[in-house]
Amino acid sequence: MNNIISAWQINVEDYPVNGSFEEKIKFFIGYAILAPSGHNTQPWLFKITKNGIKLFADRTRALPVIDPDDRQLTISCGAALANFTIAANYFGFSARINICPYDEKYDLLAEVILAENFVLTDEIRKLFESITKRRTNRKPFENKTIDGQILQKFETIAGEDKIRLNIIKENRLRELAVNIIEEGDRIQSHDKSFCRELAKWVHPVRKKSKDGIPIYSFGVGDLFSQTGPFYLSNIDWGNIQAARDRNLIEGSPVLGIIESRTDTPEDWMNAGMALEKILLFATSENLSASYLNQPLEIPLLKEKLVNTLKLKGFPQQILRMGYGKDIKPTPRRNVDEVIK
Ligand SMILES: Cc1cc2nc3c(=O)[nH]c(=O)nc-3n(C[C@H](O)[C@H](O)[C@H](O)COP(=O)(O)O)c2cc1C
Repeated sequence: MNNIISAWQINVEDYPVNGSFEEKIKFFIGYAILAPSGHNTQPWLFKITKNGIKLFADRTRALPVIDPDDRQLTISCGAALANFTIAANYFGFSARINICPYDEKYDLLAEVILAENFVLTDEIRKLFESITKRRTNRKPFENKTIDGQILQKFETIAGEDKIRLNIIKENRLRELAVNIIEEGDRIQSHDKSFCRELAKWVHPVRKKSKDGIPIYSFGVGDLFSQTGPFYLSNIDWGNIQAARDRNLIEGSPVLGIIESRTDTPEDWMNAGMALEKILLFATSENLSASYLNQPLEIPLLKEKLVNTLKLKGFPQQILRMGYGKDIKPTPRRNVDEVIK
């Protein structure tokens, strides 16, 4: 394993028990950076304060084509915040989170104040132990249903952050959702700006990138691994991807939509925290997940999805879940590179 992937080898034994507050916080940030992010842009920055951290959006890492309002960027930062607080809890700190009033000029998203008085629970232990094991798994899942109690727990976890996980159970509605996702693949494949933006973040098997999506993460063969970025910008891949997504969804026991009641930056932060906690709990149950957000990145399709599925809330993420095989981790920048 090369040193760019080594972020995942962070070890509880290395926690600086007798270290300074700053050293402890840096250790927690080592878990925060393992969060998922759109195109693995890792759009977060942390400032260590006297009693916790401030979390900032790093808008130099924005994806203006698919995410012009930085909605998904904010969700990614929410996911990193969830990891940070779970790690702090695991090592005995309670975390008071203040989501900041949104101001694009200042980029400050949240402030966390820590106090050394947290009594570890089984639930936090489970989530914490899953941080280094979670992966986005774009490969097919086994034909095996997910226990109702696990699904119930996903809904409870989402509710804790004022978010809803809407599991699409009816076959007719699933089919309608798949049709819209396929339409999204075709539209995006014909959109030059989309292809260029994606190609910029998709890396062939190149060991030095500390961000972006390595081609092996797409679950495709070695040939594509060498030619990926070229392929994305030069070949009409929409129909191929649409057929692939249809198969993946049809073979997945769960297709769900993370929804919020309103659609503010605060909701996006909450959606990011809920997303990560759902993914960590899923990981603890040996479940995998991947995203099908295409319709949410095209305004007309987003509207179509909301109307067709009669969604009650604002869709923030579309996920499929199921039992999958092991997947390699993706690269991360170092902790020192994300501290302001
Ligand atoms: C807000 C958000 C949106 C994402 N959207 C997609 C998506 O539409 N399609 C996809 O394949 N992966 C998507 N991902 C997954 C990222 O590409 C993935 O997290 C990143 O490449 C890092 O890999 P990892 O999750 O295995 O650590 C998304 C992740 C986040 C947090």
